[in-house]
Amino acid sequence: MSQGFSTTCLHGFKDFTTNKAHVLPIFASSSFMFDDLDHGISIFTKKEPGHVYSRYNNPTIQTVADKIAQLETLGTGVEASAFLTSSGMSAIYIVMQSLLKPGDTLLAQKKLYGGTTELFQKSLAPNGIHILSMDLSNLEAVEQALKNDKGIKAIYLETPSNPTLDIVDIGAIARIAQTFNVQTVVDNTFPTPYLQQPFLYGVDHIIHSTTKYLNGHGNSIAGAIVSRHTEWMQTTVWTQLKLIGATCNPFDAWLLYNGLKTLALRMDRHSSNALAVAALLESHPEVGNVYYPGLKSNKGHDIASVQMPRGFGGMLSFELTRNLPAVKSFLKNIRLATQAPTLGDVDTLIMHPATSSHLNIAEEDRIKEGVTDGLLRMSIGVEDTNDLLKDIQQALDKINPSLS
Ligand SMILES: Cc1ncc(COP(=O)(O)O)c(C=O)c1O
Repeated sequence: MSQGFSTTCLHGFKDFTTNKAHVLPIFASSSFMFDDLDHGISIFTKKEPGHVYSRYNNPTIQTVADKIAQLETLGTGVEASAFLTSSGMSAIYIVMQSLLKPGDTLLAQKKLYGGTTELFQKSLAPNGIHILSMDLSNLEAVEQALKNDKGIKAIYLETPSNPTLDIVDIGAIARIAQTFNVQTVVDNTFPTPYLQQPFLYGVDHIIHSTTKYLNGHGNSIAGAIVSRHTEWMQTTVWTQLKLIGATCNPFDAWLLYNGLKTLALRMDRHSSNALAVAALLESHPEVGNVYYPGLKSNKGHDIASVQMPRGFGGMLSFELTRNLPAVKSFLKNIRLATQAPTLGDVDTLIMHPATSSHLNIAEEDRIKEGVTDGLLRMSIGVEDTNDLLKDIQQALDKINPSLS
């Protein structure tokens, strides 16, 4: 049949399913075709597998989500399913929104990524969810809180925590939570499933900012929800996700998929480099506290050695004893660390929390959390170890001892 120019532009393309791509293709399609009315109905009603609309799900996105569920459960004997979200923040929001209702209490770790604390205070609390923040290393206090407040329905934690790398005993918290029939949510962004698998310890749900180590290359923003409550995922969580529209997009999912291929290689190198840097920092006279769970001197070291058996990750923070003037000098002289407000990229990054992530937190409160004026957070990259050590050494040595 003869047809016009525009019609030819618009209609007909080779069926992609017959092209056997070696790497995952990007399905940049907002919707998916039905063969006929019955086919459409059976996909819409989930009687038959298939895709409808990319806000609901998409083959590229689901392939990567399934991969993350596979990594979080590998060797654990646990079954779980996963969704990708538009960011780590939306992953946290969707899980909490799906778990809690007005009048419930969320027991949250005191030291968390600043954005998470802000989300709890500014999004969950105004919706009638009471937020109780505690130091989760005090297990007796956690148990007491659960005895006192029957409204506690979930416990939220992050280990190692951002930015002071505090370690929480995941197994101990999960055991207490189970006794009180309370669900646990762990942010596994810093360690990734290569270094730590919270499902081994009875945790219910895991969230990720895949923007960080899982992607690893600083070129996508996305998040993941992984849960052993698979039916709840397909009903409650999926409904929230598609209605709020917080789904990931295929391009970011595809970038994440590429990053995942080298996750183990990267995490091994991040961990060995960070351990070497932490040891150097600990021995330098200009440095006060060094926060890295791989150091024997770290208070979380024994627990971390058990729950992070392959290594302690690439994140560390440390205090320069001469505070802000020393911070300025160090940042001016360091060459192999880029000042950028993210983490988990292949190259080394540095950030001054007091003037960035914690800028809006009252000075007294941030100092109580260990975020002093002299604190610097580094995301140690996969550069050659000696280059990193030489660079950090020279930047520390240039701090003028008369600064105060
Ligand atoms: C530990 C942790 N969780 C969650 C988030 C939020 O992730 P995103 O920026 O992808 O929304 C961040 C961001 O820095 C983080 O560090």
